[in-house]
Amino acid sequence: MLPHARANPHNPVFTILQLLRQAAGGDVSGQDICRQLHVSRTAIWKHMHALRGLGYEISAVPHRGYRLLTSPNAPWGLEVVPLLQSRSLGRDLIYLPEVESTNRFLERLAEDGRPEGTVVVADCQTQGRGRMGRAWFSPPGQNLYFSLLLRPGVQPQAVPSLALAMGLAVVRVLHKSFAKLDLGLKWPNDVLLGGRKVAGILCDMQSEIDRVRCVIVGIGLNVNVPSTALAPDLRRTAVSLRDVVAQEISRPQLLAALLLECEHVYDRWQKHGLQPFLHELETWSVLQNREVTVALPERQVRGRVAGITATGALVLELPGHRRQEILSGDVHVLPGWKR
Ligand code: BTN
Repeated sequence: MLPHARANPHNPVFTILQLLRQAAGGDVSGQDICRQLHVSRTAIWKHMHALRGLGYEISAVPHRGYRLLTSPNAPWGLEVVPLLQSRSLGRDLIYLPEVESTNRFLERLAEDGRPEGTVVVADCQTQGRGRMGRAWFSPPGQNLYFSLLLRPGVQPQAVPSLALAMGLAVVRVLHKSFAKLDLGLKWPNDVLLGGRKVAGILCDMQSEIDRVRCVIVGIGLNVNVPSTALAPDLRRTAVSLRDVVAQEISRPQLLAALLLECEHVYDRWQKHGLQPFLHELETWSVLQNREVTVALPERQVRGRVAGITATGALVLELPGHRRQEILSGDVHVLPGWKR
């Protein structure tokens, strides 16, 4: 069995793992497993062998049975699907040990008509992409890199507001899962932890002039990568959850929680747009009321951040009581100016 097999709850290894997990560290007799699955002892033995090959530690004691000792911290279907509470997001979950970019991979599936809710998650990316053509550092075995396929019936100009809403979903999950983290959102969609970047969101879309065919929401989250593994220039600006909470974090649990929250946020955004999220977005925003400069393609503007509009633009107050809405750009906070 390959770890990148599409999550299939009818696969016997799903049932075997379920039985072992239900025993909660106790033994499950081979006879019980055979009875439940209607297969031979040899077949069970082969499945156990395959699971061990994937990194599951399973003990086998004659006359007592099998016991699950440890499971790999991998965001594949065998681990994630049993934890899913989302209605649609991730019910079609594709795990890849390696891919150039989960967004790119899912874009191709979307063109072939894959349904909304499909999720691609990879253990590592060889060409992980960030905003503005930057690279996203994507080493194996540590973090979360995943993309969601959404098919909202909206116009293309609504998509930036969806990206903001998804950033809020990430902050909500981190806030709920780990107490007392110093979290923040930096427009448009950087998630910061202690002022350094812990997650980023990249939305790609396929659209006609007035209709979106699909949006691919790509989320990268530094989960367990130690800061020592980051390149020196990244070390100043990036951080992982593990660096701060000082313990290994379960990638499957975090992914399942993120998919549920992304679904909640997406459902609400589809009905009401960004409006119901604005107050919360501004509360988390590290830019709110700060003096900033924004690099636009042909010039730089400087002003005080007054908020975010329902279309997802950043509102700047400029000298002379003028206001400017920024639709895209890199924002830099000017030092020495506090809320
Ligand atoms: C950014 O902050 O610049 C956005 C980073 C987005 C990274 C994620 S990782 C999963 C998905 N696949 C990609 O190639 N990029 C996004």
